[in-house]
Amino acid sequence: MAWKDTLADLGVMGLLRPEAPFVDLPAPPPVTAAPPPRPALPAPAKPPARVATPERPVPAYYAPPSDPMGCPTEAAVAGAATLQELEQAIQGCLKCPLGPSRLRFVFGEGDPRAPLMFVGEGPGRDEDLQGRPFVGKAGELLDKMIGAIGLTREQVYIANIVKCRPPDNRTPTGEEAAACLGYLRRQIELVQPKVIVTLGATPLRELVGVAEGITKVRGQWKRVEIAGRSIPVMPTFHPAYVLRQYTAEVRKAVWEDLKAAKAWTEQDADPT
Ligand code: URA
Repeated sequence: MAWKDTLADLGVMGLLRPEAPFVDLPAPPPVTAAPPPRPALPAPAKPPARVATPERPVPAYYAPPSDPMGCPTEAAVAGAATLQELEQAIQGCLKCPLGPSRLRFVFGEGDPRAPLMFVGEGPGRDEDLQGRPFVGKAGELLDKMIGAIGLTREQVYIANIVKCRPPDNRTPTGEEAAACLGYLRRQIELVQPKVIVTLGATPLRELVGVAEGITKVRGQWKRVEIAGRSIPVMPTFHPAYVLRQYTAEVRKAVWEDLKAAKAWTEQDADPT
């Protein structure tokens, strides 16, 4: 190669890198189905043996007192011939955990023969302090709602699913509602309303057994069987919800529901 000779003559040949020999690359190893087995992990260390702790009793949800005065019997409830007798029989009730924490028992109030009965959820702070249903902010609105259909609070009957305040105004549990339901049913039996208006989802679920969303079912007639009577029920929004959603649409919906309920109390035809 002439150019190599020339470079050699110039004395730079040794500065060039020797030509790399052409070597065939080894073929890649065949792809095998299973990867080589992984080395086994060392067995985990055994946890240290637990030191025995003394047995602790499992706390019960709530143990009703053995004192029969604290838990009115079914016979006492069924035997109450008037609302006053019923209130007397049940006002010391300690059947559920709401009993011991209440300030006042909130029995309910209104015309003892009211054709229209309202059922709310349970007493709040103001009701617990005063022993009367719907006397706080929601109560003020309920009074207005009743006024809007030409009635007064004294002309209707107002009660709740539970008669003692749930802590922090939470929704009563199913157990609490069930413990109180017999009292409300006897109360309804004594008042004999022509129509019941349920306020919000809780009374609709616990008294009527309808668990659908209140937004879906409000304004649609339902029924509840009490002591052989099938009573029409008009589900509507709870006044506390109306206060939170104070729109013309929500207020109109409640007004329509209450008008329908009142109209039914004034006629004899079945609304359902
Ligand atoms: N909310 C209820 O559901 N009932 C009351 O008595 C007061 C507020």
